Amino acid sequence: MKALIPAAGHGTRFAPWTKLIPKEMLPIGARPAIALIVDEAIEAGADEVVIITSPEKPLLKKWFELNPPKAPVVWVDQLEQYGLGHAVLQAAEHFGAESDPVLILLGDALVSGGNASSAMMEISKANGGASVIGCEEVPRERVSRYGIMRSSSEIAEAFFKLADIVEKPAVEDAPSNLAVAGRYLLDPAVFRYLKDQTAGVGGEIQLTDAIRRMLAEKTVFGYIYPGHRHDIGNPNGYLKALEAMNENG
Ligand code: UTP
Repeated sequence: MKALIPAAGHGTRFAPWTKLIPKEMLPIGARPAIALIVDEAIEAGADEVVIITSPEKPLLKKWFELNPPKAPVVWVDQLEQYGLGHAVLQAAEHFGAESDPVLILLGDALVSGGNASSAMMEISKANGGASVIGCEEVPRERVSRYGIMRSSSEIAEAFFKLADIVEKPAVEDAPSNLAVAGRYLLDPAVFRYLKDQTAGVGGEIQLTDAIRRMLAEKTVFGYIYPGHRHDIGNPNGYLKALEAMNENG
């Protein structure tokens, strides 16, 4: 299984810090956040980690040159920041159409209190290798910040089959309060949908929109993984991540 970490975003919500140092390089103890995310992927079974970055963020590569992880890292540049879906698409050639599901970990999402990717791998294996999207319940008033899912059937507590997914819906249009939480295990068919995906919310190529189209062909599950997701893409989320990682690792 290969993992993919999109980490090429501008990080405007954490400016001016991110004008000099990428948010993925924020320290968690003596290591940058991205090193913890790579650890999570390798622990979950990734034997190669593809990191999407940009020429403006040389520090990421430099870190792993000085501190190699337990699996090879492959670097792919995203030269223009057209959105998460566009970032993922840049790595298409590294993933065969018939390969295992692709583990995608957002470079600015840390999980405390458990390995979300490992838990998602287990769920996928138990369901014929199907796609699994990690999710969490968020307060209704905040649904317009996330990809939001609609479940077609409750299979077990915290685990359901996806009927729909929509990026950043208005509060009144949101199909639920189940939000994408920084981790995806996706059938490689998603690359086919990304190739001709048109721009969506914010004028960006949205991964959510490609997954939505893929639902017509593939079964996708939603899963509220154990642990807690922290968005280190903004200063407040980063401080909360530090507290949580300090308490329970
Ligand atoms: P975000 O939307 O949180 O990242 O994307 P951003 O664009 O850096 O944030 P702001 O809005 O400017 O503050 C989630 C993940 O997708 C990556 C980001 O690096 C982050 O890990 N991303 C996003 C890309 O790699 N490329 C993009 O074009 C957009």
